[in-house]
Amino acid sequence: MSEDMNSELLLEVTPAQDLPHNKITIVGVGQVGMACAYSILQQHIASEICLVDVVADKLKGEMMDLQHGLAFTRHCIIKADTDYSITAGSKVCVITAGARQREGESRLSLVQRNVEIFKGIIPNLVKYSPETILLVVSNPVDCLTYVAWKLSGLSKERVIGSGTNLDSARFRFLLSEQLNIAPSNCHGWIIGEHGDSSVAVWSGVNVAGVGISNEQGDDNEGWKKDIHKKVVESAYEIIQLKGYTSWAIGLSVATIVKAIMSNSRQVFALSTNIKGIHGINDDVYLSLPVVIGVNGITHIIKQKLKHNEIEQLQKSAGQLIQVQNSLNL
Ligand SMILES: NC(=O)c1ccc[n+]([C@@H]2O[C@H](COP(=O)([O-])OP(=O)(O)OC[C@H]3O[C@@H](n4cnc5c(N)ncnc54)[C@H](O)[C@@H]3O)[C@@H](O)[C@H]2O)c1
Repeated sequence: MSEDMNSELLLEVTPAQDLPHNKITIVGVGQVGMACAYSILQQHIASEICLVDVVADKLKGEMMDLQHGLAFTRHCIIKADTDYSITAGSKVCVITAGARQREGESRLSLVQRNVEIFKGIIPNLVKYSPETILLVVSNPVDCLTYVAWKLSGLSKERVIGSGTNLDSARFRFLLSEQLNIAPSNCHGWIIGEHGDSSVAVWSGVNVAGVGISNEQGDDNEGWKKDIHKKVVESAYEIIQLKGYTSWAIGLSVATIVKAIMSNSRQVFALSTNIKGIHGINDDVYLSLPVVIGVNGITHIIKQKLKHNEIEQLQKSAGQLIQVQNSLNL
């Protein structure tokens, strides 16, 4: 609108200010980043969403596409740039940038490729938002959350991986099919590594507080083993079928970001530094149920795990430490 048209329509009382209070940055506008952006927009979580990527055309296209939907959502400013200065003052930065898992590729084999990408991202995010919370989604998520923590210099509670929140949601969905009860009422936790060596905590699975495993329950019983196998394999299956996963991780991330922004103190299975817990004595990131709020992770829930579950966590930690030690940071 020209200056003339503006003054024809509007009488200025005081200049408008553009001070976002609930600003969220998403780095990487691929399938996952845009599913996160769409879920965050739809759930009215942010007053401003900033998108960053290295591919300028795609970035502009995604920004415009979301902006054209703003007549149908609650108020939100959508910005996009390849320059990190637009991210200044973000409360949460979601990192989805990186190379995607190829069909049949393990998450761990992706790692060094994504470390190089993170070296260009993390210091820039912290430079413009020194008080931010980093939420890492890129795979292998546990390893890259450690990398983000190291590269950022932020305190450990402010660097979080989306971890096994998605695996737990997959678990609850599969339980819901088995029991014919809504996923929201089937409670269960997948902990440990997001992916191949995750741990299903059968002792905690319950509906309305009623456990489905007793003390002696065999966690290798046919249907239990099948469900956990499906949880582990579902990302591979979806990638084989549609090329990538997006909607469920987008919804998972939006729910985590909402809990941070609203300081709701919800509990999610997220990747966090578990040094000192379950006999693990190194800085390593794995998922456990944690309480989150406006300053990040405030507490880790002390689950009473079985001997074999602790062993599996320690084994995953050992594997991750080996990978971490081999990284060129
Ligand atoms: N943690 C989880 O539960 C979970 C679930 C699904 C996918 N993922 C992971 O999320 C990541 C993204 O997956 P996707 O399907 O969106 O991939 P994608 O290839 O569609 O998108 C990746 C985006 O990152 C961008 N990018 C690359 N280098 C960059 C850089 N240096 N700076 C900024 N942006 C950069 C690319 O341009 C692209 O737009 C992958 O690592 C994938 O494995 C994690």
